[in-house]
Amino acid sequence: MVTMVGSVVVIRLLLMVQLLLAMAATGEALDTAYYAATCPDAEAIVHNTMERLHYTDPTLAPALIRLLFHDCFVRGCDASVLIAPTPRYSSERAAIPNYALRGFGAVDAAKRALEAACPGAVSCADALALAARDAVELLGGCRYDVALGRRDGTRSDPWEVDLPAPFARLDDVLAYFAARGFSAEETVVLFGAHTVGGAHCSSFRYRLTGPDSGGAMDETLRRDMLDTCGAADLPLDTDPAAFFDPDTPFTVDNNYYAQLMSNRTLLQVDQEAATHPDTAPHVAYYAASPGAFLQRFSEAMAKLSNAGVLEGDAGEVRKVCSRYNT
Ligand code: HEM
Ligand SMILES: *[C@@H]1O[C@H](CO)[C@@H](O)[C@H](O)[C@H]1NC(C)=O
Repeated sequence: MVTMVGSVVVIRLLLMVQLLLAMAATGEALDTAYYAATCPDAEAIVHNTMERLHYTDPTLAPALIRLLFHDCFVRGCDASVLIAPTPRYSSERAAIPNYALRGFGAVDAAKRALEAACPGAVSCADALALAARDAVELLGGCRYDVALGRRDGTRSDPWEVDLPAPFARLDDVLAYFAARGFSAEETVVLFGAHTVGGAHCSSFRYRLTGPDSGGAMDETLRRDMLDTCGAADLPLDTDPAAFFDPDTPFTVDNNYYAQLMSNRTLLQVDQEAATHPDTAPHVAYYAASPGAFLQRFSEAMAKLSNAGVLEGDAGEVRKVCSRYNT
């Protein structure tokens, strides 16, 4: 009798431990309802901020999409890209691939609104993931769910920024994306982000004088870009920029793929995707399938938003996105 009661107690204890472990595990995973108790309006607050900014400056939404990519592929989506360099400590923002990143002010504005409503609750990594999602939607892409609960990193090192250059060979870029769990097709879909926003001439001026691994640029585009850019390199603040998709620079659509197939794209690595055997079929498919592109682009953005996130007690929830709490 005593042993039976004892084993029932043991079994109950085991069940309780299992339950607690399960709760801890789900408590740590990202969850769309993560802020249901601590900041129920978090998504609306970020959305309102983005919407307001978008109507005064449509170039911000593309910048936010790029900012998410540059955050998530370096140390995961931990807002490490948002840390501002100081005279004593450098940060990812000082690295060459991040030289023309924009949109920090939009994240700061969203974060200020979040702090006013629910101090200390919502991480900068979540604010950025939500802002990028809203950017996709404001640019006409499909809305997607963003699971929440990312924590902010406590490290941001310019030497860790290994983002590919626009003149990288596509083989290397595909390996780089594969190492982060993205197939060649998903990589092609994410490249489709280059249907919004634009690039400074310094990213492609060298292509205007001759063919490269991307092949030759369409002659009309090449002449237009020589007019826009001139032949000599200029400092970033005076360097002209051009839209990737001049017809609809602020619309998420599949124009990018048709541009690739007619040699009318600015970046060398993008152009190479039109002919590389691992990507060319996907480029042709998405050029012909606008609906499939919109769907898959949002799925790929959702996946990007979950890359290497910090959860549970890792990291911190920053008070100000551009600096660590301590
Ligand atoms: C091999 C991969 C990639 C390379 C080499 C690359 C390179 C670049 C370069 C050089 C620019 C122009 C920056 C400037 O001169 O101002 C740019 C802009 C942009 N990139 Fe990428 N990119 C890549 C992948 C991606 C991915 C995966 C995304 C998002 C999912 C993305 C989103 C954007 C957006 C939206 C812009 C326009 C930004 C603006 O208008 O402010 N890129 N990219
Ligand atoms: C694109 O460029 C390649 C060479 O780089 C050429 O073979 C092809 O015909 C061009 N396509 C178009 C549509 O101009």
